[in-house]
Amino acid sequence: MAHKIALITGAARGIGLATTKLFAAQGWHVAMIDRDEAELTAAAATVENALPVYCDVSDPQSVTDMVARVKSHFGRIDAVVNNAGIAEFGPIQDTDFAMWRRVMQTNLDGVFLVSQATTEALKETSGAFVNIASISGLRASTLRLAYGTSKAAVIQFTKQQAAELGEFGIRANCVCPGPVRTKLAMAVHSQEIIDAYHDALPLNRYGTESEIGEVITFLCSDKASYVTGQTIAADGGFDSTGVGLPALRS
Ligand SMILES: NC(=O)c1ccc[n+]([C@@H]2O[C@H](COP(=O)([O-])OP(=O)(O)OC[C@H]3O[C@@H](n4cnc5c(N)ncnc54)[C@H](O)[C@@H]3O)[C@@H](O)[C@H]2O)c1
Repeated sequence: MAHKIALITGAARGIGLATTKLFAAQGWHVAMIDRDEAELTAAAATVENALPVYCDVSDPQSVTDMVARVKSHFGRIDAVVNNAGIAEFGPIQDTDFAMWRRVMQTNLDGVFLVSQATTEALKETSGAFVNIASISGLRASTLRLAYGTSKAAVIQFTKQQAAELGEFGIRANCVCPGPVRTKLAMAVHSQEIIDAYHDALPLNRYGTESEIGEVITFLCSDKASYVTGQTIAADGGFDSTGVGLPALRS
C-alpha cells in the first residue's frame, strides 16, 4: 500500500517539527514546508522519508510552486497541517498596520493559500486538514489584538472548510495549543506572561511540542474518521477555567 503523505507548514522547528517526527514514527512520509531554508534543511536531515520544500506560505506563487513540487514528488497528499505562524504582541495603541499585516499574512493568508492550493489533492484521497490556531483565538488576553484575531479567524476558517468539503470526504479540524516553550513563544512570553499562564492553567505547566503533535496526528488519522469541524484545545485546561487557581494553590 502507498505511504500516506502529510504536508506540514512551519516544519523546521517547534510544534511543526515534533509533529513531523510523530507522523514519521507512524509510517507517514512528510513534506516539510518552511521559509527558514537553513533550519529546514538541517531539520529534514533528521527525519526519514521527508521532503523539505522552501516556501513562504504568505506568497501565492511560492505556495503554488511548493504544492506542485510536493505533488510531483509524492503523487498524493493525505493530510495538510497549516501550522506556520508568527507571534507579535503589543498594546492596541502600538499595533500599527504593518504589524497587523505581517501577522495576518502568515497566520491567516497562509492558511487560506495553502488550503486552496491543496484542496483538490485532498479530494483525491478523502484527506484531512488540521489548522493550528491558539488559545489566543478562543479567549482574549492582553497584547494580542492582531495575533488573537488571526487565530480566531483560523477557527472559523476551519468550520467553513468542514461545512463545504465534507461532501468530498475531506475532514477539517482545528487545534488550539496552549503555551509551549518554542522559539515563537519565548520571543513574546515575558516573565509576567509566563507567571500569568501558570496562574491560569489547571495543569500548572507549559505543554510540550509532542503533546500538541499527538492531537494533530490523531485528527489526521483514520481514528478520527468521524470528527470534523471541531476545535480542540490542547491547553492544560486554560480554555475551560475561570478565576480562582492561585487562591486554591496558596
Ligand atoms: N508555542 C506556543 O506557545 C503556541 C501557542 C499557541 C499556538 N501556537 C501556534 O503553533 C504554530 C507553531 O508555532 P511554534 O510555537 O512551533 O513556532 P516556531 O517559531 O517554533 O515555528 C514556526 C515555524 O513556522 C515558520 N514560518 C513562519 N512564518 C512562515 C511563513 N510565512 N512561511 C513558511 N514558514 C513560516 C518558521 O520559520 C518556523 O520554522 C503557530 O501557528 C503558532 O501560532 C504556538
